[in-house]
Amino acid sequence: MTLVDETDLGTDLDRVVLTEKEIRDRIAEIAAQIDADYRGRDLLLVGVLKGAMMVMADLARSLHLPVTLDFMAVSSYGSGRRSSGVVRILKDLDESIEGRHVLVVEDIVDSGLTLSWLVANLRSRAPASVEVFALMRKPDALVQDIELRYVGFDLPREFVVGYGLDCAERYRNLPFVATLTPQAYRRLAAGAG
Ligand code: PRP
Repeated sequence: MTLVDETDLGTDLDRVVLTEKEIRDRIAEIAAQIDADYRGRDLLLVGVLKGAMMVMADLARSLHLPVTLDFMAVSSYGSGRRSSGVVRILKDLDESIEGRHVLVVEDIVDSGLTLSWLVANLRSRAPASVEVFALMRKPDALVQDIELRYVGFDLPREFVVGYGLDCAERYRNLPFVATLTPQAYRRLAAGAG
């Protein structure tokens, strides 16, 4: 695989959807809102692995509030790349959230099924509040209506990689978000690296 950046996408990436600067600036805006909204309250950020690793790290560093961090890893059962809404917990939170203010941090909401299950699961643990920050949302793909307190960007219904998002585990480490060429998508999705 060749090296890529926003000005030289190589052969597999098609088009930049969000630049590194656009992502950084938007996270700073949302961090300022979160700082104001949760002032004086004890906030726990819950990142959903693996996709949310980048946004979690950048959001946490942009906040001025003294937050604590925890992570969950979940897997949606179902065929291929589609969520089924039946979710299995691969890694649960380390600590109880009873009485805590929780902000779930997600990279992307596609069908909304994963998040809708996750929010219901967290609400059943008697927290003081549960809200969601999703950096990206695909409104046209939503099958489960879900309330998002903070949204970074609305994207069209196309497959994107980068900034935590993968195709067959590739491209999570891009600092920007881009589409794949149809050929690269087919090759990677077929497991042909
Ligand atoms: C992605 C993303 C969300 C979910 C969104 O995770 O991080 O958790 O899919 O899809 P949905 O709205 O259709 O339910 P994925 O299952 O690909 O795991 P990953 O974060 O480890 O890449």
